[in-house]
Amino acid sequence: MTIATIQTEPFQDQKPGTSGLRKKTQVFMQERYVENFVQAIFDSLDDKQGKMLVVGGDGRYFNREAIQTIIKMAAGNGFGTVLVGQGGLLSTPAASCVIRARKAYGGIILSASHNPGGPDGDFGIKYNTDNGGPAPEKITEAIFAKSTTITAYRISDAPDVDLDQIGTTDVDGLTVHVIDPAEDYLGLMANLFDFDKIREMFQAGFRMRFDAMHAVTGPYAHAILEGALGAPAGTVVNGTPSPDFGGHHPDPNLVHAKELHDLMMGPDAPDFGAASDGDGDRNLIIGKGIFVTPSDSLAALAANAHLAKGYAGGLKGIARSMPTSGAADRVAEALGIGLYETPTGWKFFGNLLDAGMATICGEESAGTGSDHVREKDGLWAVLLWLNILAVRQQPVKQIMAEHWATYGRNYYSRHDYEEVDAAAANSLVDELRGRLCELAGRIINGRGVARADDFAYKDPVDGSTSAKQGIRILFDDGSRIVLRLSGTGTAGATLRLYLERFEADPARLDLDTQEVLADLIETAEQIAAIKARTGRDAPTVIT
Ligand code: G1P
Ligand code: ZN
Repeated sequence: MTIATIQTEPFQDQKPGTSGLRKKTQVFMQERYVENFVQAIFDSLDDKQGKMLVVGGDGRYFNREAIQTIIKMAAGNGFGTVLVGQGGLLSTPAASCVIRARKAYGGIILSASHNPGGPDGDFGIKYNTDNGGPAPEKITEAIFAKSTTITAYRISDAPDVDLDQIGTTDVDGLTVHVIDPAEDYLGLMANLFDFDKIREMFQAGFRMRFDAMHAVTGPYAHAILEGALGAPAGTVVNGTPSPDFGGHHPDPNLVHAKELHDLMMGPDAPDFGAASDGDGDRNLIIGKGIFVTPSDSLAALAANAHLAKGYAGGLKGIARSMPTSGAADRVAEALGIGLYETPTGWKFFGNLLDAGMATICGEESAGTGSDHVREKDGLWAVLLWLNILAVRQQPVKQIMAEHWATYGRNYYSRHDYEEVDAAAANSLVDELRGRLCELAGRIINGRGVARADDFAYKDPVDGSTSAKQGIRILFDDGSRIVLRLSGTGTAGATLRLYLERFEADPARLDLDTQEVLADLIETAEQIAAIKARTGRDAPTVIT
């Protein structure tokens, strides 16, 4: 076995976005593409000699090949140890957990989250630092800079490691441990939640369905729900990870998890339904006869978290992304704790969590999590819900009705226009940005505009600033529309329109969301002319 230095030439498109480098699988399969990017990561890290790296992915097509390359390059670059999940699997939150639990130097996660997989699907590579969270912009920018000037990479010519056998292999001086991907994570969950209480609830006849969407949470859900918590076999469906996610989008929304939604709304619904995405960081929560929006779920979890042992001491603060509804703000106010409004993307929560300013965080895009790791965590949200249900012994529907009766209800919806023409989407946003000043004070569709701006954030911990994070139009009646372009798409542009309206009238807490928002949707169209400018007559996905 020898280590070689191989000459290469830069690719100019290796700029990491909100969630690492994400491209079509075919792009990653080009010769030297993975090698260049991984070398650019390694070249951006100091003092890596002899250190420990965690590697794993969501099991999508090309996962194993990329992992073999990364292992051989870790050997070529002087790392001491690589921990890799059996079968090449590690969910994103479990990778974060392993990095923290084993005090690793960092980790590389292979995933394109909820995007489809396969040779014609998407792939991604992301670097996480020693706090278990996504690399901050300072590092991702350094990686991009290195990728544009790279001339060589270092790699061992050792044979492939058997990823399916738990055990230890030497790769040119690098020690590779293939580990159980669920062990550390299960231990962490058992510390946070009252497994005995949840087990008793299942024993007493409580039933749920967890849809792992043929993705990475299957093994975790089997081990935790059906194993440790004693839920009946068959509770977890689509629980075997497959490289193309069974041909589906592993996106736990009402379109791609329609079967689960229909079951939960029908006569044979179990007590609780949940799903997670490709890499296990998102969650979908549906009670019998009720879909809980991620914004409401964040608020309800925050209001009830003290019922789980890991949060019995109360929360330090709550953080939410700007487009997420203000439901959690009302809980924070009632609890007398801080509420932090951050730009879209989990990385903005990292400093608040590290500084002990926030305990629970969430995004409207089905991401919820806490300071137990530095990624959002799908199964964590499911387990916190189960813990709350086990203590309160009430159906989800009743818990939400009581929540709204206490705090009022933030009716909320997101309308996505996917794969629209990028030039049209950009000019729509730019042009609207230019009109923000003139919008303030105007009456549109019967609503007065109180304020219109482009969200800018100053991190309260390190003082760094992020501008142009989404257009907000706030109305006199407390309702709001937000418009931003997605930073995670791989084809065309995705325009996201977020709509929110607060209701405190006890007689108006149980209405149809789209009906309550219809008039606000019309106002948004009058302001931004999305339909006219994109040539679409309806959103692709309504959540
Ligand atoms: C989307 C979500 C955002 C999330 C990100 C990564 O980003 O909106 O909340 O953090 O995926 O999972 P977007 O495509 O909107 O930029
Ligand atoms: Zn994800």
